[in-house]
Amino acid sequence: MRLILLGPPGAGKGTQAQRLVSDHQLVQLSTGDMLRAAVSSGTEIGKTAGAIMARGELVPDLLVIALIAEKLADADVAKGFILDGFPRTVGQAEELDELLASRRIPLDTVIELVVDEGILLDRVRKRAAESGQTARADDTPEALEKRLVVYRTQTVPLTDYYRQKGVLHQVDGMAPIEAVSEAIASHLKSIKA
Ligand code: AP5
Repeated sequence: MRLILLGPPGAGKGTQAQRLVSDHQLVQLSTGDMLRAAVSSGTEIGKTAGAIMARGELVPDLLVIALIAEKLADADVAKGFILDGFPRTVGQAEELDELLASRRIPLDTVIELVVDEGILLDRVRKRAAESGQTARADDTPEALEKRLVVYRTQTVPLTDYYRQKGVLHQVDGMAPIEAVSEAIASHLKSIKA
């Protein structure tokens, strides 16, 4: 199974991706996690990305596409993966299409977690409180506001992009975590059948 999880910051992409990893033996490809690891280890990519991420803006397309291309070059990863937080611009989606086509890797579905924006600040605040000293630099009200503006302008067009390709499936991300997982599992079962 090869799928994309779409949704605004705090929608539950990471939460659901981790559940899919354990339930379906898929590999989670989270560009946010990859970039945070690069920032922590002080690599050149991390030096470029750190300040951009803290402001709640998107890092350059070329950089994240290179990260994903490297992961998808692994034949085991290509067998089953969840893209979490990638693509998030139409440019990234077009590059991904080319990458997958050139490697003959089919994309099974794009699942959008649909949530009311009003809930997101609470979710992100809760995560920051639970993370304590390891809280993300972008889990502040100011950075979240910026991340939402970026999401609305740059990522929302992907909903139509994938709808037109006939692969979009929307799930109610306002439901409890377990119910969201069940809705995703039932969709995955229906497309496997
Ligand atoms: P990234 O790490 O991708 O962050 P994000 O998209 O903003 O998403 P989050 O991780 O904040 O939220 P989530 O949807 O995963 O929710 P979660 O499951 O954690 O990106 C960070 C930054 O990196 C970007 O701003 C950008 O700078 C850069 N970047 C990354 N990818 C990029 C790309 N492709 N191009 C360019 N730049 C890129 O849940 C959040 C909280 O809510 C948790 O506490 C969870 O327990 C709770 N929760 C989850 N689901 C539910 C539920 N159903 N009910 C109640 N609580 C819930």
